[in-house]
Amino acid sequence: MNILLIGSGGREHALAWALRKSPLLGQLYVAPGNGGIAELAECVALDALDFAAVTAFVRAQDIGFVIVGPEAPLVAGLVDHLTAQGILAFGPTAAAARLEGSKGFTKDLCAANNIPTAAYRRFSDAAAAKTYIRQQGAPTRYASEAWRVVIKADGLAAGKGVVIAETLAEAEAAIDDILGGAFGAAGAQLVVEEFLYGEEASFFVLVDGATALPLATAQDHKRVGEGDTGPNTGGMGAYSPAPVMSDEICAQTMRRIIEPTIAAMAAAGTPFRGVLFAGLMITDKGPYLIEYNARFGDPECQVLMARLESDLLPALLASAEGALAGVKLNWSVQSAVTVVMAAKGYPGDYKKGEEIAGLSLAGQTPGVRVFHAGTARQNGQLVSNGGRVLNVTATGDTISQAVSRAYSAVDKIIWPGGFCRHDIAWRALERERQSG
Ligand code: AMP
Ligand code: GLY
Repeated sequence: MNILLIGSGGREHALAWALRKSPLLGQLYVAPGNGGIAELAECVALDALDFAAVTAFVRAQDIGFVIVGPEAPLVAGLVDHLTAQGILAFGPTAAAARLEGSKGFTKDLCAANNIPTAAYRRFSDAAAAKTYIRQQGAPTRYASEAWRVVIKADGLAAGKGVVIAETLAEAEAAIDDILGGAFGAAGAQLVVEEFLYGEEASFFVLVDGATALPLATAQDHKRVGEGDTGPNTGGMGAYSPAPVMSDEICAQTMRRIIEPTIAAMAAAGTPFRGVLFAGLMITDKGPYLIEYNARFGDPECQVLMARLESDLLPALLASAEGALAGVKLNWSVQSAVTVVMAAKGYPGDYKKGEEIAGLSLAGQTPGVRVFHAGTARQNGQLVSNGGRVLNVTATGDTISQAVSRAYSAVDKIIWPGGFCRHDIAWRALERERQSG
């Protein structure tokens, strides 16, 4: 079967690498791909938001299955368009992708179905939002904690639409920013919500409209700086499994959060198919939903693919075809870690086009595979082409072995304009030390 994979990040490199192991795979095309993906697939310059161009390419290359990696084409309705043309596609319809595309939609769904999430209010008027915050303070269950309130743009904002305000002035500035157009149409509305205390984790399920199959657990580091400080990013590193996601917490997440969501989406006539990614806060009262995404996490996908032993392709097909019941996936007992190498300046301004060397040596480190997130080839030379550029991924018998393998590979990469965090997986390492 010929396959078209949409996307250009480390997530898509990891998916392409996993798909290449499938005996069902014919030709693999990736649009647009990147410098690393080009080594395992044919990269094509297609704009995923140009649905007619995607359809024409699918027909011309006899593609049997389209796998959509990133959120923007999902929220814009690429899967609806392909399905209407009789083309099988992996990922949710636009109506189902509202779980990621509108934070207000998801909060209302949680409220209607008793799904644990931070208390919230939706606003489209700045004065009303400010009056609410001034009068009520943030709705909070933790009277003893410092005052904090979370302000979120309703729509897609590439991870930049969330402000955790510690003063009234910060909260008011965030409201003015969002409703003042800093995020375009994504900021026509906002959500004000309670700040949750606890440990974050990423929880993934494959869904076929009715059945949800949990994947391995993972944790990500969202902040740019060591010790989880500084501005939010798309993710600076990830590891799997996530020690905080005990069997009991996973079971509670399925029962209290995932299953009611899938049932509500189906009952509304907008069943969810694809990967449902729940960003969780594990609080003293159990798992709370922070947000949903309608796709694999990046860089979480890289560590999941590093541990997946089963063939990925039949599972993705089963999700698209409504046939997940009975599907089982096997995961390696090993741990996996990925360290993101980013361009200096990220998540702010950064340079592109800088030469990168040493990757083949890095890739020879035992248990290591380097996924490309934002690279390109220029005159045969590999160069940086994005903010997050490489995902140095390693497996090991323990989390500490995986971590030391990943960093020894990082040390072999020659790219003066790059940086990484040196404390990826610190929580898991601490737990391993305590129990070891
Ligand atoms: P989101 O884009 O909704 O995942 O938010 C980005 C990040 O902001 C999350 O990964 C959390 O670290 C943080 N965050 C968002 N909402 C809350 C909340 N209600 N309480 C605490 N932290 C939050
Ligand atoms: N790593 C978090 C995300 O993909 O949104």
